[in-house]
Amino acid sequence: MSDVQGLDNLSPGLLDELRALEQQFEVTPAKLKQISHQFEEELKDGLAKDGTNISMNVTWVLGFPTGDERGSFLTMDLGGTNLRVCWTTLKGQDAETEVIQEKYFLPTELKTGSADALWDFITNSLAEFIRSQRLGGTREEPLPLGFTFSYPAIQEYIDHGKLQTWTKGFDIDGMEGEDVASQLREAMDKRDLPVKLVALINDTVGAMIASAYNDRETIVGAIFGTGCNAAYMDHVGSIGKLKTDLPPDTPMAINCEYGAFDNARKVLPLTKYDEAIDRDSPRPGEQAFEKMSAGLYLGEIFRLILCDLQERGLIFKGQDVSKLREPYLLDTGFLSSMEDDPFAATRSNFEETLNIQITWEELQLSHRLAEVIAERGARLCTCGISAICRMKSITSGHVAADGSVANKHPKFKARWAQAMGEVLRWPEDRKDDPIIITSAEDGSGVGAAVIAAMTLERIEKGDTAGVRQR
Ligand code: BGC
Repeated sequence: MSDVQGLDNLSPGLLDELRALEQQFEVTPAKLKQISHQFEEELKDGLAKDGTNISMNVTWVLGFPTGDERGSFLTMDLGGTNLRVCWTTLKGQDAETEVIQEKYFLPTELKTGSADALWDFITNSLAEFIRSQRLGGTREEPLPLGFTFSYPAIQEYIDHGKLQTWTKGFDIDGMEGEDVASQLREAMDKRDLPVKLVALINDTVGAMIASAYNDRETIVGAIFGTGCNAAYMDHVGSIGKLKTDLPPDTPMAINCEYGAFDNARKVLPLTKYDEAIDRDSPRPGEQAFEKMSAGLYLGEIFRLILCDLQERGLIFKGQDVSKLREPYLLDTGFLSSMEDDPFAATRSNFEETLNIQITWEELQLSHRLAEVIAERGARLCTCGISAICRMKSITSGHVAADGSVANKHPKFKARWAQAMGEVLRWPEDRKDDPIIITSAEDGSGVGAAVIAAMTLERIEKGDTAGVRQR
């Protein structure tokens, strides 16, 4: 349902355009179910064999934490804006975890530069953190590190990760197809850092494990942010493609990498704006689902629609639209603020960000467009999670979610809950939703530390399944 009043006051030409756009962006309950069922097929395919759309990567995180994991760990997270480095001290689930952190601004050019430049930046930041926090560490007793690397990586071991493809606008030479963990080790050795990489971790797995450390109801870790993806706990016996001696009932966290759902473009209701985003992206044809639902793209879809309407002489007549022509200028925050405070905030947003004096009619149109785009995104975001739940016969629990869309968009969670009910056919008169979205605990600080602790504990007990160790 739209919160925008008085759309019928739009001029007839613009109203027709808007109605056509609403139709293109609508995901009906029937379409939602169709997508979710196709999703389930692709999840199963990914478990059965290699080389599928959704790659269902094994992670060698063998089960949920007990809540009793303890110790101090170095963690680091390569995000789109910063490298976050933490010294995390776990004291068991009943005591507060201590996280000392520093963020190192990642210069934009590094995201499309060379691997050497990236590793130099990372190891310089790590060295600086270790020095400023006086963490010590020696060659004999190195500091254990959990590295959150939120890109698709095939993990033959927990301390290994062959980058499949860059996503989210990263495009660094010399890393795709390579083991990122080995590259990090080499770079740390070159600098003589007293650090031992224990685990390479996807952000979804970190979110799931950090949340499960305190919340036993956790069933899935999901990121609805710049990118989109989820992780859940499966069993070795269900992963047909995995060759291992582990007993079939051994739990194994799976990093789905479902941003690549429907790369074959069978069911997703793509608009010409989605096609344009894909065409102009560094990796056309990839991450089809992510490009329609994740935060990196929502503002861009909005911008492309406005450009289209402007070019056809329908809006912003006589205005300087040079800012509007800048790709990726508008982030999801721009859309969020429109839904938060439709009119006053939007007007000044347009002035400040786009240098456009917006009319009342254009304001109403923009507000409705922001709703339409965000609503489609939120509804699509239920397809992957509902498919996991159906595949694993999960009927209740907590989906621990992180990311800017989940946390900052004012209506995401409500729309997501509504669509989950539709796709999983929950009774209309239910009192509570059986599967709810919760705010994930700190995946790359706490989650990465818990995973490092679990891994070291296993090694100590002589269980080195999926551990390369050097
Ligand atoms: C990456 C995933 C990641 C997700 C959320 C996607 O682009 O491929 O590995 O989990 O973004 O950050």
